[in-house]
Amino acid sequence: MPADASMVELFRRELELCRVTPEETVAVLSDGEARLDFAQAFLLAAQQLGATAFQVTVPRPPQHGGFAGNFGQTPIAGNRSVIEALKSADLVIDLMLLLFSQEQNEITATGTRMLLVVEPIEVLTRLFPNEDLRRRVEVGEQLLGNAQEMHITSPAGTDVTYRLGAFPVMTEYGYTDTPGRWDHWPSGFMFTGGHPDGVDGKVVLAPGDIVCAFRRYIQNPVELTIEKGFVTDIQGDGLDAALIRNYMAKFDEKAYAISHIGWGLNELADWHHMAVANPHQELGMDALSYYGNVLFSTGPNTELGGDNDTPCHLDMPLRGCTLTLDGEVIIKDGDVVPPEMKATA
Ligand code: FE2
Repeated sequence: MPADASMVELFRRELELCRVTPEETVAVLSDGEARLDFAQAFLLAAQQLGATAFQVTVPRPPQHGGFAGNFGQTPIAGNRSVIEALKSADLVIDLMLLLFSQEQNEITATGTRMLLVVEPIEVLTRLFPNEDLRRRVEVGEQLLGNAQEMHITSPAGTDVTYRLGAFPVMTEYGYTDTPGRWDHWPSGFMFTGGHPDGVDGKVVLAPGDIVCAFRRYIQNPVELTIEKGFVTDIQGDGLDAALIRNYMAKFDEKAYAISHIGWGLNELADWHHMAVANPHQELGMDALSYYGNVLFSTGPNTELGGDNDTPCHLDMPLRGCTLTLDGEVIIKDGDVVPPEMKATA
């Protein structure tokens, strides 16, 4: 299949942000017939930069293919030849979705950096990353890493406190030039976790807030009571509260734990995008990244180094919140406050 010239150009710019050099090897990982156009364009883009490039394609398991429920289980599990080949590369372009898997951890532990690319070309183009986004995300990383306590409030009634310091801060800005570092194109946010027993208060999901797992905007308020790091009560009339209650009840008590917390900094991301997106074709990075959101979540913390591995994970980007760190206002009514973290555009 001939590679689209504009796609090769876009991917070359992305590899330049990743600082791919002629001395480096870029591996492209794909499964079945998915994203073969991306694979071809990445190979050509790497070649244009003088790098050595190769592609690994493995069969796609029959059940694989959607974005729901496959996290952590990958088509390369136990495939030592493929895993060793990827470890030998400097940069792996993951077109398959290794996120949350043992294989991903093993590959990046050798210093190989990894970039996940699974969104449609329209989203990759519109949310193309830049160095200023990285700079601002790293400002957030500093602020979050130095804080002892986070407090979040909202007009809808959210009032929750996180005791910080137990977990590292993770960044996502859409490219990676740091050995062993994973990133996801596109993104634009950072996060950490509260102490496993150190989150207390309530989160009120307001109309317009998003429950990513359901691809759904909240329509009726839902009040989550949180005690010692766990959701202990879910109140609300209407479908939203019922859906969340019913979904979480399918898992064990680890599902009710509070997971990562942070905020979005990508001014190019559209809050409304999920309303018009094809849920089978993207993970929905607009919702996770949009500027001034508070990204609240429940479920696992293995991503941060914790031991809660529940598969029940709800990302819930909240609008219009105020977030403080040790009393300093970071997000005010859904807008970014520290000048050095504000978008310039
Ligand atoms: Fe998440």
